[in-house]
Amino acid sequence: ALLVKARAIGAEFVYEPEDVAKGVKEYLRLMDKGLTEPKQAMTMIPTYVTAVPNGTEKGVYLAVDLGGTNFRVCSIHLHGDSKFTLTQAKTPIPKALMIGTSKDLFSFLAKQIENFVKNHHSDHFESQSPNVHLKLGFTFSFPVEQVALNKGYLLRWTKGFDIQDAIGKDVCGLLQAEIDALNLPVRVVALVNDTVGTLMARSYTSPGKAGTLLGAIFGTGTNGAYVEKLSRIKKLETSPEGEGDFDKSSGVMVINTEWGAFDNAMKVLPDTPYDRALDKNSVNPGMQMFEKRVSGMFLGEILRNAIVALIGEGLFKGAHGTSIDENGPLFTPWSIDTSALSTIQADYTSEYTLTKQLLEREMGVSAATTGDAMAIKALVYGIGKRSARLAAVPIAATALATKAYENYKIAKSEAQRPEEIEKIDIGVDGSVVEYYPGFERYLREALRDIQPLVPGAAGLEDAIRIGIAKDGSGVGAALIALVA
Ligand code: BG6
Ligand code: GLC
Repeated sequence: ALLVKARAIGAEFVYEPEDVAKGVKEYLRLMDKGLTEPKQAMTMIPTYVTAVPNGTEKGVYLAVDLGGTNFRVCSIHLHGDSKFTLTQAKTPIPKALMIGTSKDLFSFLAKQIENFVKNHHSDHFESQSPNVHLKLGFTFSFPVEQVALNKGYLLRWTKGFDIQDAIGKDVCGLLQAEIDALNLPVRVVALVNDTVGTLMARSYTSPGKAGTLLGAIFGTGTNGAYVEKLSRIKKLETSPEGEGDFDKSSGVMVINTEWGAFDNAMKVLPDTPYDRALDKNSVNPGMQMFEKRVSGMFLGEILRNAIVALIGEGLFKGAHGTSIDENGPLFTPWSIDTSALSTIQADYTSEYTLTKQLLEREMGVSAATTGDAMAIKALVYGIGKRSARLAAVPIAATALATKAYENYKIAKSEAQRPEEIEKIDIGVDGSVVEYYPGFERYLREALRDIQPLVPGAAGLEDAIRIGIAKDGSGVGAALIALVA
């Protein structure tokens, strides 16, 4: 009975080809709306970045990165030949700082920068000349209303952060004030979303003739940034946002989509009781509805809710009927890490040994049976596969809306050697795309599924190249600091 029920729950996560296609069409609609009208949930934020690198950029820059699993401080040496060296220090962000005051958070960040500069750039530290500043790119992976390369007002928090007094403030200013309070020779010159950084880094390290179209994160959160034509960003003409001047000569600008908020209205996204329980229990109910079905911060909690349902029906109980710790992780919201799903997904042992061990070590089940493990794997399979298939939606829509795919097809049909035409390049980063077994394979399956269902999408999957831009956003921030 346990396995039958677990498979039935797993089946609630099936995301059919028709659903993916519907998702793509709705995404195309909301993309246009976000480019035209201000204050949309899927915000489509103009970044004032109007060119992508080509690999020849040079110099030494600092970068800090807030908004994934870790806070990182790095210095990046760009060698100008598509290569770079990176020195970095990582610290997990203390949970208390995510829900405290902005002063607490930003002074903590400045302190980490101080340690790093003292350890790695003591020469700069000692030179007392006030003019010799290290330039720093700030990767801040939350929605920010950007008004200039180094100025942006926080729109809202995501991914479990909730620091009310920071909303509406310029986050570069907040960081600079704390840096100045420590008398550090550091100037914040660029504010960068992690997706923008990933896009930049990928363009620097694997420059193709057509350039990289999209930088995407599938990690703690999910989001994407892509290269858009200025003529399509209609809200730029009418909005007072365009405080800063920018170079219009390239005719393009990078847009930070904030696709985590795609379809908050829930017109096309899949929904289950386990998703609804998660949303209700989150710091931002009704927000980031796409992200809550796709990214690492949430998959463990969806799984936990599904297991709780099995326990509630008296079906999942461990070997002796009472071997589940009632104060343990299965009864503690947000306590199951996405890495648990990766481990279970990858468990091909005949007796499900790895899954049983994990249930015992990390989920408070003192004696798990093979049957228990099989049931949990059925849930994990459903949840993980749905996440990866959902990830295909913004990728397909971006390739279609920007005409990147249409141009690819034209180039191919006109080429002497069609096989040499470069594919549409997408740079990705984040723990889910990097570690979740089969993520890209499931994503590609979904891209193939929609080919007969979405106009203009025939052959799309084959035209897309996806490459990891590891730790990309640090490098990306350096590249933008360089332009600044
Ligand atoms: C890192 C990037 O490699 O990946 C960060 O440098 C990004 O900017 C992060 O936020 C996303 O992954 P995760 O899994 O840490 O959220
Ligand atoms: C969240 C943030 C977004 C970020 C993404 C990935 O969706 O709102 O800005 O890019 O997470 O880290």
